[in-house]
Amino acid sequence: MIVERIKKIASDIHPLVIAHRRHLHAHPELSFQEKETSAYIKKELSEMGIPWQPVSENGVVALIRGGKPSDRVLALRADMDALPIREQNRLDYCSTREGVMHACGHDAHTASLLGSAYILNALRTEFGGTIKLIFQPGEEKLPGGASMMIKEGVLENPRPEAIIGQHCMPSLETGKIAIRPGKFMASMDELQVWVHGKGGHAAQPQQNIDPVVIAAHIIVALQQIVSRTANPSHPTVLSFGKVVANGAINVIPDEVHLEGTFRTMDESWREQAHTAMFRMATGIAESMGGACEFRIVKGYPFLLNDEKLSESVRAHAIEYLGPEQVVDWDPWMAAEDFAYYSQVATGCFYLLGTGNVHKGIMSALHTPTFNIDETALELSTGLMAYLAMKELKN
Ligand code: NI
Repeated sequence: MIVERIKKIASDIHPLVIAHRRHLHAHPELSFQEKETSAYIKKELSEMGIPWQPVSENGVVALIRGGKPSDRVLALRADMDALPIREQNRLDYCSTREGVMHACGHDAHTASLLGSAYILNALRTEFGGTIKLIFQPGEEKLPGGASMMIKEGVLENPRPEAIIGQHCMPSLETGKIAIRPGKFMASMDELQVWVHGKGGHAAQPQQNIDPVVIAAHIIVALQQIVSRTANPSHPTVLSFGKVVANGAINVIPDEVHLEGTFRTMDESWREQAHTAMFRMATGIAESMGGACEFRIVKGYPFLLNDEKLSESVRAHAIEYLGPEQVVDWDPWMAAEDFAYYSQVATGCFYLLGTGNVHKGIMSALHTPTFNIDETALELSTGLMAYLAMKELKN
């Protein structure tokens, strides 16, 4: 049975995969600066005898050709960048770089894909077709490593018919994975707003055009885009996390700066919402005697899990893990640049449970105490190898 053989190898190499993950965790690199991480991946692939090529800034693509005749191609993807966060964990393998931390588990994704590569390479006489391994940089930063890798042809020569990726999820128990077929993660746009008025003494409002009051109206009014303009069946979020007025107790400033994020799961509504927000914000500012500059920096598209592929991945995951270990998940308003692959190829992105309440491993993604239960890495390496082999056969 192939499941047993994969599980045996995954168990044998589990210490090695943990070592990869700890090495990467101790040496995190920010988005598009992943020189050493990229070199580490290349060295490990070379040691396994797997041919690789560099793609884009620090990206690596590798091919494992199965021994049986087939021209089918499937891609597996891992990201590799860290975040500008100062680690607060006390671990032997803590970040050695001040202010940089693998707080989103991309160290685990890369280590896991190296483990899956080992398994698939060891079992390559057992399958037909080609596995394309994609190690991509810059997931955390616009324009997203995925979009750059795609532009530079990572999905060509050979072109994969499907692509599978995974992400650590601390609120899901280790031993489980979660899949959401269809719309899974949100598009993400950055909003940059400058509200211009006329500053002056706070005791003489009649002589000023108060941008603070205008900005307050804009913030409140824009929520109507979410509650009154959006189709309730398209999940939509608008949040302003930065509001800078820089006046004083008795000083009205000339300008207020706002920064926020707009997220949804429908590309045509996303475009309409941009226009509606722009019109509302500039209209309010003008009606109050001020002016508003409203800039939208487009981020990642929404992430669509192909229904058929996701159901197939779910069925195979159940074969590998058992039915209780494969759970459903709600749509998630976080953004992920795997979405770029899912827009141009058949994609499935699932969540890997890495939390463990008994071990106290519960911190959320992007926090200074984020960590994973490393027992999850035995499951993740074997499962992804199994999914790849099954999809090539399907
Ligand atoms: Ni991430």
